[in-house]
Amino acid sequence: MGGGIAAYKSVELCRRLVAAGALVSPVLSAAAERFVTATTFSAVATEAARTTLWDGPEPSPHTTLGQRSDLVVVAPATARVLAAYAMGLADDLLVTTLLATRAPVVLCPAMHTEMWEQPAVRANVSTLRQRGALLVGPVDGPLAGGDTGPGRMAEPADIVAACVARLSGPPEPRPPGATGRTAQGRDLAGLAVLVTAGGTREPLDPVRFLGNRSSGKQGHAVAAEAAARGATVALVSTSGGPWPAGVEVVAVETAAQMQAAVLARSDEADVVVMAAAVADFRPVRAAGAKLRRGDGVPDVVLEATPDILAALVARRRPGQTLVGFAAEWGEPTAGARSKLEAKGVDVVVANDVSAPGVGFDHDTNAVVIVSGAGMELNVGPADKRDVARAVIDAVTAHRSSP
Ligand code: CTP
Repeated sequence: MGGGIAAYKSVELCRRLVAAGALVSPVLSAAAERFVTATTFSAVATEAARTTLWDGPEPSPHTTLGQRSDLVVVAPATARVLAAYAMGLADDLLVTTLLATRAPVVLCPAMHTEMWEQPAVRANVSTLRQRGALLVGPVDGPLAGGDTGPGRMAEPADIVAACVARLSGPPEPRPPGATGRTAQGRDLAGLAVLVTAGGTREPLDPVRFLGNRSSGKQGHAVAAEAAARGATVALVSTSGGPWPAGVEVVAVETAAQMQAAVLARSDEADVVVMAAAVADFRPVRAAGAKLRRGDGVPDVVLEATPDILAALVARRRPGQTLVGFAAEWGEPTAGARSKLEAKGVDVVVANDVSAPGVGFDHDTNAVVIVSGAGMELNVGPADKRDVARAVIDAVTAHRSSP
């Protein structure tokens, strides 16, 4: 772990990794030791914590660690660690171990919003992502010093889920005979795809929220399909794990958090698939403490949430493909067509959520896919992964249409 206040959460991460059956060798940077102690990690991990390249019993701790690890997870990954790793600057045991491993690397950034949004940090993150590192988070939320915003380290449970997914092997290839892909099955190689999934939760008080029945399964299936076909995928989801293998995951809860996470990543994306069921309305104010029955029936006043898709359309860059989803009640084609026009997106995927076995919380779905290029394709009822395949095929068809 690098030196950030989020290092205290790495104790919990370490405990959860051990509980999941991992052998864990903690490595603390010098700055990490200012926040947490090596003794703490030695107590919860399966191996003794290490802090230095020098003076230990092993002549070469970085190569021992790097070579025998199945996965290296850096949590928190501070701006310094990201920069040193991107540059190959082997100046402490942590970065030297990163350079000495061929294992998959999971980076969990944690820093203040201003730092996370710095062009220098963005460039390092982009470099590391292109080299195959998997990013988990950061998420939007409380930061050190009473601040709030994007930059908070992902929750330990989500990091463990991402590590398990990363170790579960390379994304599974598509079955032979499917159309729209190269012989290697990686027809999306070089493409950056951003996917949202799940229903947002808009707080009424600290324990209650307004939500919807979306499970996030369809969005996760789209992310898994895109990753399996070679895309670099970021998944912004309210649904938690299990996460698809090999995708950057950003856990969010509210429409506002989802918007911040999406807009922070949309400029880099060639394709954005808004599969999330974003709440259209939220309480104007969330109570600071739990509302009690004895206080009487609360007056809940609602306001519109930010329209993320509209914000994406407003800042769309040339060559970027935007996909919207529509939950229709009854025959979905007409609604899909009018949404395509009203929203100004390239592709709309619509389903009839009143039909049995369709959409919310099912493993199957039936959709109509319409595009500005005149496509109208009915898919399903079918497994959500098959629907995801059709959605990605529609995106590639749209992108290659004149
Ligand atoms: N969406 C969004 N931001 C919102 C609400 C929705 O980006 N605040 C996106 C969803 O992710 C989805 C599409 O917009 O891709 C759905 O559009 P919307 O008009 O909200 O459709 P429905 O809620 O399905 O339909 P309606 O409200 O018209 O019944």
